[in-house]
Amino acid sequence: MTCLSQTGEEIIKECVMPLAKAASNVRENAYAPYSNFKVGAALRSASGAVYTGCNVENVAYPEGTCAEAGAIAAMIAAGDSIITEAYVIADSPTPVTPCGGCRQKLAEFGAGEVKVTMATTDGGELVMCLAELLPGAFSQDHMDNS
Ligand code: THU
Repeated sequence: MTCLSQTGEEIIKECVMPLAKAASNVRENAYAPYSNFKVGAALRSASGAVYTGCNVENVAYPEGTCAEAGAIAAMIAAGDSIITEAYVIADSPTPVTPCGGCRQKLAEFGAGEVKVTMATTDGGELVMCLAELLPGAFSQDHMDNS
């Protein structure tokens, strides 16, 4: 979906740029001087928009944030909230899988059947759905007695 107030660049990102390309591009901007492990993530939302994020590390190591968290923050900041597809890429020997915390974050905004493609920079890909990545996810239902 496009609207008149969008720039050409935004429209291209939404309509043309595949998730793989968006994730690969944003990965270049990752700030990872401590791990030297750059990660890029791209999400497509129900509106069709694409949101991207990269990992942003900090000298106080636990303060760093993952690529998936950055992409989710961009989606929420744009007023969007339903993930329909996700793509994560890093220069790893096997396709990079989201960390445990990011699996829970993705599950907050994506249904179990949402496809997550995990990729290496040299072309390897592994596709799983969110329910496979986070079996037994903690959910609102667990708080029903509260
Ligand atoms: N990282 C991500 O950004 N996403 C993941 O799914 C796995 C790990 C980042 C965090 C940290 O900056 C670096 O990769 C090494 O753990």
